[in-house]
Amino acid sequence: MDKFVIQGGKKLSGKVKVSGAKNSVLALLPATLLNSGTNVITNTPQVNDVYTMIKLLQQLGVTAEFEDHVVKLNTTGINSQFAPYEHVKKMRASVYVLGPLLSRYGYAKVSMPGGCAWGPRPINLHLEAMKKLGGEIELEEGYIIAKANKLHGAKIHFDVSSVGATGNAMMAAVLAKGTTHISNAAMEPEITQLADYLNMMGARISGIGSTVLEIEGVDELKAASIENISDRIETGTLLCAAAITKSNIELEYSSPEHIDSVVAKLSDSGIEVWESNGAIRINAANSNPQSVDVTTAVYPGFPTDMQAQWISFMSLANGTSTVTDTIYHDRFNHVPELVRLGAKIEVNNNSSIVKGVNSLRGAKVMSTDLRASACLVLAGLAAEGTTEVLRIYHLDRGYQKIEEKLRALGADIQRETTTEF
Ligand code: EPU
Repeated sequence: MDKFVIQGGKKLSGKVKVSGAKNSVLALLPATLLNSGTNVITNTPQVNDVYTMIKLLQQLGVTAEFEDHVVKLNTTGINSQFAPYEHVKKMRASVYVLGPLLSRYGYAKVSMPGGCAWGPRPINLHLEAMKKLGGEIELEEGYIIAKANKLHGAKIHFDVSSVGATGNAMMAAVLAKGTTHISNAAMEPEITQLADYLNMMGARISGIGSTVLEIEGVDELKAASIENISDRIETGTLLCAAAITKSNIELEYSSPEHIDSVVAKLSDSGIEVWESNGAIRINAANSNPQSVDVTTAVYPGFPTDMQAQWISFMSLANGTSTVTDTIYHDRFNHVPELVRLGAKIEVNNNSSIVKGVNSLRGAKVMSTDLRASACLVLAGLAAEGTTEVLRIYHLDRGYQKIEEKLRALGADIQRETTTEF
């Protein structure tokens, strides 16, 4: 098992390239199940969740090669519609195979994802959407058994905006007979890109980028190639790394508008962030960051996936801030770990009240999930002395070698093998 050992207090400087978006490619990869041919996805991050999804696709009969951020998927030999527990338990996004398999083959047996590190994450909206499209759904021994002769168009309204359910419903509807309307659809850039990719395969989706999607079913889709977008959450994480260490850095990033909500909050706290020549620049040197409240919301609101990193930054800001998570009410497992580093934070229902302190002190801390790990790394970069972040396998699920990017910017962060758990 690996851990990070961080000597805090180093200023960051220079430029790094942000990797491709994990959550986006986790939707693009299963979308290839809808066609027969060779698909190429470039700018794919080398992170464990992507390897897990590729293994799952291989289990379904897809031939996959992944070299140097390029994934080639040949979908001509798909011979199974079975997603076993072994794969799904590692990653909830595995449930994305349900829509494409049901739509194309009329059958899918997909393990139910279990609980997650910060509480229940149901998939009821995915299942309801499949039923609306004509799927028969049964739950048996921990598995979803989905059957249909041919899916048909339907009106689907999501009571709660869901990235995954919108993606799954879209992937099911593209091969359904007739037209599907999805309202209160997710507008996250990962979903917009999935819709674009499906259209490149020959799907007919309109309303892309809005909360109302219209999907005219087609008989078949062809293989297609796409360049994945940059990761907005890695971008936000690195911006917060610069903010918490009072540094100036530059990030090579394809779509600055995806991170507007985070940039606006950084600017409210008194830190300058701007875009020039295809890069995002942040100037936090000599800054005196002020506390700024944040409430997470669906896109284009402040992402829940940046909540933990924002709390880290706020733990050293001037004043008291309230950080509220409206998407995942229990996503605060990082707070007790930050408190071990000297932060003053109290959790009250789905909010954290963060009283800024003058300094944090290094200690051993434990990652509990992906974004929690990132927030502990940020705190370690700013803390006095040595911070050890244990259980970074969580971080490796979604950040491609973040320690190398941070070292390139001047941080003192090492990956070491440990027997500590
Ligand atoms: N929800 C339901 N029923 C459902 C589905 C969702 O009640 O059937 C609720 C959830 O409990 C939550 C809200 O809807 O309160 C939004 O969840 P959503 O379905 O949008 O989340 P997701 O698709 O499971 C994706 C990302 C998450 C990110 C969320 C929210 C991927 C692979 N995962 O999850 O990313 O937090 O959207 O933006 O795209 C991460 O990268 O660290 C991560 C957890």
